[in-house]
Amino acid sequence: MSSKRLPDHWSRKAKAEGYAARSVYKLEEIERRNRVLPQGPGRVVDLGCCPGSWSRYVREKGGRGLTLVGVDWQAVPDYPGVFVERSVLEVTPAELLAALGGPADCVLSDMAPFTTGSRFTDHVAQMELARCAFDLALLTLRKGGHFVAKVFEGEEVNPFVAAVKQRFTEVKRVKPEATRNESVELFVVGKGFRGPLPTTGPAA
Ligand SMILES: C[S@@+](CC[C@H](N)C(=O)[O-])C[C@H]1O[C@@H](n2cnc3c(N)ncnc32)[C@H](O)[C@@H]1O
Repeated sequence: MSSKRLPDHWSRKAKAEGYAARSVYKLEEIERRNRVLPQGPGRVVDLGCCPGSWSRYVREKGGRGLTLVGVDWQAVPDYPGVFVERSVLEVTPAELLAALGGPADCVLSDMAPFTTGSRFTDHVAQMELARCAFDLALLTLRKGGHFVAKVFEGEEVNPFVAAVKQRFTEVKRVKPEATRNESVELFVVGKGFRGPLPTTGPAA
């Protein structure tokens, strides 16, 4: 059996603390180092939220006044917010904004594709999800809001980070301690959304 299947420190900790997944400690570290989540009433989108550990953590941070919208094509029983059971590729900014009741303070994406074992194929599939999350973030965040997206190492990461830098004032790559040693995943954290681009009027 590969070490990936063995419960490690983080899996045991998640089980002991009642979280559905060890990935909660990735968000905990991202939050500790970057402060991206509202600490009270606010609006958060969690893309790829199943089985729900990030969402539960966000709810614990923000309390009952926080509005949380989660999207996943796998159902999450007892979701602690508004749950949209669909592919993120089919979700529109308008429906997220309607579910949130206004622009988001933070858009999170821990989405991951079904991996094939081909590093290149998995990287390309992962970057499609990250770009989709970025596009949704650009159309749902408030000015000054924050964005977190999982990516897999590969040639498309640098152009992705460059695109995020154009729209956020501070951008970092974070590899949390809870990420497995053999994993190619890392997180791109964009802080301080510069705001929507001005729309150009119809051509005269
Ligand atoms: C690593 S898990 C997320 C774990 C979650 N952050 C947690 O802590 O519980 C990745 C999730 O992305 C979801 N996902 C992958 N592609 C998706 C897509 N196109 N639309 C919606 N969800 C997707 C998967 O169903 C899976 O639940």
